[in-house]
Amino acid sequence: MDIAVVGATGVVGRECLTLLESGLVPGIDRVVPVASAGSAGRDLREELGLTLKVEPVVALEEFDPATVDVAVFSAGAPISTEYGPRLAAAGALVVDNSSAFRMDDDVPLVVPEVNPQALTTRPARGIVANPNCSTIQMVRALHPLRALGEIERVIVSSYQSASGGGLHGLQELADTTRGILDGADPADATRGRFGPPLAFNLIPEIGLRDDEGHSHEERKLRREPRKIMDMPGLKVAATAVRVAVVNGHSEAVHVTFGAPVSPADALDALRSAPGLRAYGDADGYPMPRLVCADPAERRLVHVGRIRNDPDDPCALWMWVVADNLTIGAALNALEIVQLVSGLPWWR
Ligand SMILES: NC(=O)c1ccc[n+]([C@@H]2O[C@H](COP(=O)([O-])OP(=O)(O)OC[C@H]3O[C@@H](n4cnc5c(N)ncnc54)[C@H](OP(=O)(O)O)[C@@H]3O)[C@@H](O)[C@H]2O)c1
Repeated sequence: MDIAVVGATGVVGRECLTLLESGLVPGIDRVVPVASAGSAGRDLREELGLTLKVEPVVALEEFDPATVDVAVFSAGAPISTEYGPRLAAAGALVVDNSSAFRMDDDVPLVVPEVNPQALTTRPARGIVANPNCSTIQMVRALHPLRALGEIERVIVSSYQSASGGGLHGLQELADTTRGILDGADPADATRGRFGPPLAFNLIPEIGLRDDEGHSHEERKLRREPRKIMDMPGLKVAATAVRVAVVNGHSEAVHVTFGAPVSPADALDALRSAPGLRAYGDADGYPMPRLVCADPAERRLVHVGRIRNDPDDPCALWMWVVADNLTIGAALNALEIVQLVSGLPWWR
């Protein structure tokens, strides 16, 4: 299989290359990294120490889509909107990490552990959408709990890291943190990649707000789980917060079921789910810095602090942590490729 990684020089694109190097998708013959014209010719194989057959970076405008079977897009929604359909028309299956097509009826929105059935036939437009990073970890924790009873309502607060803002987000957190440690005025509210300054701070707004005051990220957390879990009536209320964490998103998730549930049954259900580590009381709890420091843990969704709601026997709390670059983007996208490559309709 020949695969293009569009946005290969970014944080998600580089993660895709690293995961491909690990052999996650068998049968890769050739990798074409694609980025902006300014990155053309860069040798990511050398930069990232890869042994896989990775060609020099090609500028998107120069890229010939007919030469690949699959293109994983991680270069932002405007790039996906313009080039995704073009590559699909040339025959490549497009797996898109941006928000460009997620809610389109004729584009499957897929988390392989949750709704692989969405790919039993070839997508009509040749495009598969990867959900938002904070959605993926949440639905992967919710899905096994459906065995306990019908989920009626979810209330989630997300604590989202700087790497969710790409290379510029990481750079800004590093620069502004260093600046304050070097004596810069903490009251300086110069706006940057995240709007207000992120160092030693948290920002309770991710993306533009709508007329009702909900942010873009909060709308994604509300709409995407309904489509992925095929639960159009699921009630979801979200507060999305950017925090001064380098990598790894965390979520406090409150789940209400139609009947009483026990934390012990929830722990059992989560422990039997693939790709998920569930923590009992004796196991401590997951934290983003520690989860993201370990290559094996970065490939798991971590769920801890599973406890009842003292005022509602039908509700549970849980704390969900995952690496947004792997679980929330590159790993999910490549698991889609892996899934597709074993399906009868794949050529
Ligand atoms: N970061 C996350 O946690 C995360 C999670 C889920 C989904 N996503 C989505 O993944 C996408 C990439 O995010 P990121 O965080 O990896 O961003 P990033 O670190 O800023 O990387 C952006 C990538 O897009 C490329 N690019 C920018 N303009 C381009 C153009 N005109 N033509 C071709 N390539 C261009 C950049 O190439 P140059 O280096 O040449 O500029 C770079 O490779 C976004 O759609 C984002 O919403 C991100």
